[in-house]
Amino acid sequence: MCVIVLLWLCLALGFLLALLIHKFSPRFQTKHEQNPLFLIFQDLIRYGKTKQCNRDYWLHKLDVPKRWFWHFYAVSVVWNGLLLVLSLHLKLQNQSYPQWLTYFLSFLCGMQWNESQVPQLSTLLVQLFLWSHSLRRLLECLFVSVYSEGVIHMAQYMFGIGYYIILGLTVICSNNFLDAKGFGSLFHQLDLGHLSGTALFISASLLQHSSLVTLAMLRTGNSGTVKTFVHGVPHGGWFELVSCPHYFAELLIYISLGLVFGGLSLTWWTVVSYVLFNQALAAQLCQEFYMTKFEGYPRHRYAFIPFVL
Ligand SMILES: NC(=O)c1ccc[n+]([C@@H]2O[C@H](COP(=O)([O-])OP(=O)(O)OC[C@H]3O[C@@H](n4cnc5c(N)ncnc54)[C@H](OP(=O)(O)O)[C@@H]3O)[C@@H](O)[C@H]2O)c1
Repeated sequence: MCVIVLLWLCLALGFLLALLIHKFSPRFQTKHEQNPLFLIFQDLIRYGKTKQCNRDYWLHKLDVPKRWFWHFYAVSVVWNGLLLVLSLHLKLQNQSYPQWLTYFLSFLCGMQWNESQVPQLSTLLVQLFLWSHSLRRLLECLFVSVYSEGVIHMAQYMFGIGYYIILGLTVICSNNFLDAKGFGSLFHQLDLGHLSGTALFISASLLQHSSLVTLAMLRTGNSGTVKTFVHGVPHGGWFELVSCPHYFAELLIYISLGLVFGGLSLTWWTVVSYVLFNQALAAQLCQEFYMTKFEGYPRHRYAFIPFVL
């Protein structure tokens, strides 16, 4: 098994474990609530509104503002933009990846790289979608979302920066080079997987954007001027079905990229499993926050996936 698959599997299992402990073991939580290791664990899985406000003072030392979220996407736009340009050069102008990149790829993907390994349409499309996703998220962070004084842990911040760097390399590792279609023209490679993946990617991106606009409007109203920084109860659209439609949309975005890969990239599905458990945990914590804070919070709403979770 190559390093990158192992890495995503470990992350997925880590978040699954955290979710299971959190959701199904309230006794474990009560028993260990004063244990410093458990407090650190809680601090690492929570961020923003779900971080407990009465945390011990020493836990605050490694806080950074949640409004720095845009840093992740800025890094991603630059890094994944660079990888996209390098792949286009490789495909269209028969140039090879620079040596430092082939070194990283060989280490992460567990295979030797040579110039015959041209990226296919799937890889180029996923790179393009990942880049456009990052750009949209960057613009939303800067111009749509209204951030309060919420914080994230320094470790979460470093993780977020590294995440989009590794993700870009994973996309290249997910390339199925053995497929003979990889050597045909880009147009001739186009198939149903690319079309259905693209359709799902666009729909999920629209859902995520509209959900983030709804959350921002809880603080601005229709005027666009910020009136409050408190958390309110979102209503309308997919918020009537789930507490966090933007997290559900995130999962759909990653699934759509799996479809663009033709549904056959095991490497990519390990990324999807990480996003599934990571966002499920975040949605569960968010749901609990709403239920505790707002007495009349609609009980029929699921946390993450409509009618399922
Ligand atoms: N792929 C990944 O690993 C990953 C990881 C994390 C996030 N994401 C994605 O990044 C996006 C943002 O995630 P997030 O966790 O930051 O979302 P979030 O906690 O819902 O916050 C989004 C924005 O809405 C505000 N907000 C949240 N709840 C609100 C409420 N009840 N009332 C008023 N304003 C509210 C937040 O402000 P404050 O929090 O400052 O109060 C923030 O400005 C999501 O689409 C998520 O899927 C992806």
